[in-house]
Amino acid sequence: MTENIIELQNVDTIYEGEKIPAIHNINLKVRYGEFITIIGPNGAGKTTLLETINGLIPYTSGTGHVFGKEIKKHKMDIRKNIGYVIQNFDIDPLAPFLCKDIVMTGRAGKIGLFRFATKRDWELVRHNMDIVGMKGFAERPIGKLSGGEFQKILLARALSQEPKLLLLDEPFSNLDLSARRKMEKLLTKIHDEKNITIVMVSHDLNFIPQRCSRVVVLDKGRIIMDDRRENILTSDMITTIFHKEESRV
Ligand SMILES: Nc1ncnc2c1ncn2[C@@H]1O[C@H](COP(=O)(O)OP(=O)(O)O)[C@@H](O)[C@H]1O
Ligand SMILES: [Mg+2]
Repeated sequence: MTENIIELQNVDTIYEGEKIPAIHNINLKVRYGEFITIIGPNGAGKTTLLETINGLIPYTSGTGHVFGKEIKKHKMDIRKNIGYVIQNFDIDPLAPFLCKDIVMTGRAGKIGLFRFATKRDWELVRHNMDIVGMKGFAERPIGKLSGGEFQKILLARALSQEPKLLLLDEPFSNLDLSARRKMEKLLTKIHDEKNITIVMVSHDLNFIPQRCSRVVVLDKGRIIMDDRRENILTSDMITTIFHKEESRV
């Protein structure tokens, strides 16, 4: 077995009907147990990269492996072992589902079609709601949550999958500063306790968890830096990219 949980070689992903690849010539190896942040301005291709990794969007050239398996051939199997927390979501304020039921949907892959949730499944759901600080929300309808609370419920749902790999798309985007700090602590705890590999995406240079030793910089669909966090944060190139981004806003 390979030591890499993710291996992408010369990967391009072109959206249907588009000519220019959203991500281009991506070469990325992530080892089991790493916690990396992929950083880049809006539109850089970060979400596309995550969705290419979990097989939601097919790459148009190159090769990709996750858990040592070719992504396109094994995407259902691969996805079962990936907890993916999406960035954009709309909560229907009238949605009648309770938080605990949403978190339980994370168990669907493990429970399968032919059995019901057991006591252990519910224990796991409660445990993960507790971990993310949402224990008291079990019986609340999801339509009544704030963006940050819903993000935590989605994280609890992903953890209930008992994934080997966690893909987090901008987990700090709906949170204020103190909630960000708590989320950072939480991710560090998950990384410590759950033997899980974490790939996190962020457009905010100022918020890379301390635990993250490696940072990959994506700009206009290409990886332009892949280095230790301290080298990235002190490089001239990074300020150029992010100044450009700020002046655009
Ligand atoms: N469904 C789609 N169809 C066509 N182009 C898309 C689609 N989704 C994203 N793109 C384009 O791909 C590029 C990368 O987008 P995305 O991966 O969402 O960037 P990021 O997550 O870094 O903000 C952008 O130029 C975006 O407009
Ligand atoms: Mg995105």
